[in-house]
Amino acid sequence: MTKQDELKQLVGQEAVKFIEDGMIVGLGTGSTVKFMVDALGKRVADEQLSIVGVPTSQRTKEQAAGLGIPTKGLDEVDHIDLTIDGADQIDKNFQGIKGGGAAHLWEKIVAINSTKNMWIVDKSKMVDQLGSFPLPLEVIPYGSQQLFKRLEKQGFNPVFRMKNNNYVTTDSNNYLIDLHLHKIDNPKKLALTLDQMTGIVEHGLFLNIVNTVIVGEDDGPKVLQAR
Ligand code: 5RP
Repeated sequence: MTKQDELKQLVGQEAVKFIEDGMIVGLGTGSTVKFMVDALGKRVADEQLSIVGVPTSQRTKEQAAGLGIPTKGLDEVDHIDLTIDGADQIDKNFQGIKGGGAAHLWEKIVAINSTKNMWIVDKSKMVDQLGSFPLPLEVIPYGSQQLFKRLEKQGFNPVFRMKNNNYVTTDSNNYLIDLHLHKIDNPKKLALTLDQMTGIVEHGLFLNIVNTVIVGEDDGPKVLQAR
């Protein structure tokens, strides 16, 4: 296992300590969350912990099912106590970029329906300023070439996310466009601009959403309270 994977595993293991019996828990997506779901599966098996997971992707749903973690869809629960998810970048104000794993639409919907949100990251994700990680947009396929041209005109440096010459599609069968912005001076202003562009279903700026961040540092996981 790489050093970075070790840090991801440690934050995943730390995060599940926050899960209590009876909770409804949002389960994020990505390689860090995969370690967290493994650790949660172990707690469910070892302690007969009774929880319900609300997965943010088919991938996470399948992993949870394989580990015997009961899951429900978002519309089958009346609340979510805590959602634990990864992130691609987090700045000093605890604003984040997500969507590198193509799941930010479901992740944001689950996050805004959660009482508390926790992000788990290795130290490489903590930055002074957002933007060196390309900002993901989930877009409706219909008219997406026209949308792409509008994004180009605005200087957003869009790139369709492709795999083996095919468009990457999300769990909602949409496409992804990554904006290579290099730096984002005003995340709130950019979020408002993108919110108003027809054809964009959701962007990967997660602003004022997270409560707690667990960062994998060399000397162990650090728990930071965002708000
Ligand atoms: C998926 C996400 C992930 O949480 C984010 O990409 C981090 O993933 P990883 O833990 O693999 O670095 O937003 O859409």
